[in-house]
Amino acid sequence: MPLAATPIAPPSDAVRSLAWTAAIERASDSLPRARGVARYRRRDYLHDNRVAVAATFDATAGLPGSGVFVNPATGASLLVAADSQPPVRTAAAVDVVVAGAMRTAEQLRFRSFYLAAGAARSLVVHQRSAAAVPTPLVAGTRLQTTLTGCTPFVVPRILETGLHRRENADWVVEEALDGAPVVRADAEAAAGELIALLPQMWQRLGTSHDRLDPDQRARALVAFAGLAEDPPDGIWPAEVDRQATWHRVRDLLNDERPLTIGLSHGDPGLGNVLRLADGRLALVDWEDAGHRVVAHDIVKVLMSSPDPVRLAATLDAPGSLRPALAAAGAMPWRRQLATALLLFLSGWRNRHFRAVKRRSVTASQRRMHALIRVLTVLLDR
Ligand SMILES: Nc1ncnc2c1ncn2[C@@H]1O[C@H](COP(=O)(O)OP(=O)(O)O)[C@@H](O)[C@H]1O
Ligand SMILES: [Mg+2]
Repeated sequence: MPLAATPIAPPSDAVRSLAWTAAIERASDSLPRARGVARYRRRDYLHDNRVAVAATFDATAGLPGSGVFVNPATGASLLVAADSQPPVRTAAAVDVVVAGAMRTAEQLRFRSFYLAAGAARSLVVHQRSAAAVPTPLVAGTRLQTTLTGCTPFVVPRILETGLHRRENADWVVEEALDGAPVVRADAEAAAGELIALLPQMWQRLGTSHDRLDPDQRARALVAFAGLAEDPPDGIWPAEVDRQATWHRVRDLLNDERPLTIGLSHGDPGLGNVLRLADGRLALVDWEDAGHRVVAHDIVKVLMSSPDPVRLAATLDAPGSLRPALAAAGAMPWRRQLATALLLFLSGWRNRHFRAVKRRSVTASQRRMHALIRVLTVLLDR
């Protein structure tokens, strides 16, 4: 009688992330790691598919940085508590490993945290899709290192970078900050602070002006034409006139005045912001940083705020940028914001169908309504 094969469950993403973390610790100079005989001591980790946490880690001990593991909306802990599965044992020294929300089956990404006082470190790891092609994390980190002292908010210092060859993954060690995600009661204030602080960074680092790239313009026009002429059900807010909006959009995208270019974080919405214990704001997750239309960053802040339409109605050219805008004969600021929003909307179809696949259509429709309403508010004056 043939033996029945016992199916072996593949390790969860959290357990894979933990194994990669242990290997990177051995290669790294800046991560805490077990030395001497302690190397042979293995530690237990509780885990589910997304999180692995050292069994000895006490999130209630108020360690610097442990506020990151609290859901800002509910106050609930994000860490695995009940050990429904047997713990895994590894030689890692890490406290908490969190698999990234944007990971896919082909590309694991995660962030690990070391919170012991004096050695607060965060390790971020992104797997490459092709061995020879670095992930965006590499270029983003290079820009991040140039920012120390150039921004009015806190940017984590980079301590070490490397490549995990066996798994084809780029990794970066940075300082772990002592903060927590922005809670709902603080969201409006934090968004306002960011909108005031980002232009200070652009001014310090310098801006230039350039016309909208013709390919980008063409893509934005085609995407918006599809949206205005034949939107999927429920995507377009009922009270907004589609034809009139399409006319205004065409007029805007044919505005030849130059746009303000500078160092953009890429996604400085509240999801990538920490409120630090000393009250300052920190901006994390610089993987999408690059030189582009800076209005893009304001749009991202706006869309992450509790009431984007109301906030959009109040926005005006930042005082620190006004001389540069005037000297360059730049497009008026609110039109720049509307243009950046239209460039972002160029990807609406992909995002919509991804949402359909993930069964998150309602949230996606809500986001589209907000984007279109903000667009019309920006164009209203
Ligand atoms: N240097 C850091 N120190 C402390 N917490 C951090 C640091 N960097 C990121 N975080 C926290 O970890 C979360 C996830 O990190 P992030 O790089 O934004 O990953 P992703 O967006 O892929 O989930 C952030 O939203 C933030 O709460
Ligand atoms: Mg992030």
